[in-house]
Amino acid sequence: MTPEPPWALLAELTHACPLRCGYCSNPVELTRRSAELTTEQWAGVFRQAGELGVVQTHLSGGEPLLRRDLPDLVAAADTAGLYTQLVTSGVGLGERRLARLAEAGLRSVQLSVQHAEADTAERIAGARSFAAKERAARLIRAAGLPLGLNAVLHRGNLDGLDALIRLAVDWGADRIELAHTQYHGWALRNRAALLPAPAQVERARTVVDRWRERLGGTPELVWVASDLLDATAKPCMGGWGRISLTVAPDGTVLPCPAAAALPGLDPPNVLRHRLDRIWRESTAFNAFRGEAWMPEPCRGCALRTTDHGGCRCQAYALTGDPARTDPACRHAPDHHLVRDLVAGPRQLAYAYREAQREGGP
Ligand code: FES
Repeated sequence: MTPEPPWALLAELTHACPLRCGYCSNPVELTRRSAELTTEQWAGVFRQAGELGVVQTHLSGGEPLLRRDLPDLVAAADTAGLYTQLVTSGVGLGERRLARLAEAGLRSVQLSVQHAEADTAERIAGARSFAAKERAARLIRAAGLPLGLNAVLHRGNLDGLDALIRLAVDWGADRIELAHTQYHGWALRNRAALLPAPAQVERARTVVDRWRERLGGTPELVWVASDLLDATAKPCMGGWGRISLTVAPDGTVLPCPAAAALPGLDPPNVLRHRLDRIWRESTAFNAFRGEAWMPEPCRGCALRTTDHGGCRCQAYALTGDPARTDPACRHAPDHHLVRDLVAGPRQLAYAYREAQREGGP
């Protein structure tokens, strides 16, 4: 069966980043700056994405502002008919840069925040960044661009959620996205430091409910639950090869940002194959598409049409087999692994990445 066209393209323009967040889900081995796609190659990706039917692209990383050619990339995506959203730490976003990006066709910005208190935020990010974020939020609002604030939730910031939401409202966010850590890539190393206590998650949920009532839908407050703590498989990526694709900095095309770690996937590259062929025909995109690959109990479970079998990368990280039922699900044969993790010991300090120093495009 021919799949529907993807709706979104996550364009990871670079893995380089001024922050060193312990929860970073990018791979442990980052793509070197010298291996990144050139401006023209990215422009080709956006053209092909537009032809394939992609509606929206998230220009992400790493920190996309580290690409000096970012305005050209935004213009190329805009010309291809894509709605462009910048996903940024805000570090390096000055008034002139933002004006150039808006002129080039940038439609919205998603800014990351780690905590409402500057010191704690910078300890989580592993870098000075709080003042730059506050300034970036002000500039984005002044430029009239929609502002989304996103916070990755974990043991180190869940208890500060009330203040974090207040900060997002004060900074003028149109949308606040609160998403629990995904334990892939670097974050997997820090799982014992990041994984919250069940009581923290319950308290945080109450805080979100209170704010939702108070805000009445504006700004929109999105809570992406913790699959491990809720014992529920998440509909990861909206289903494998179903609504979105990721292009990594070197042109590797993936069904999800963490999929490069899966064994035997042999992910294709835009430098060798066209995006439409990759989407429709590649082994990687068809590996867990639809329901035929599902084992029991997923195969006979009514939830399979909404959770799409959960997260393949998590199944691999926890069991060594990406085709197993996601152990997050309380019905999974391997769910005891998650119960043990949640009940297991915690670690106090994060491991930080080394800063990347090479120059890039
Ligand atoms: Fe890869 Fe969930 S992160 S399938």
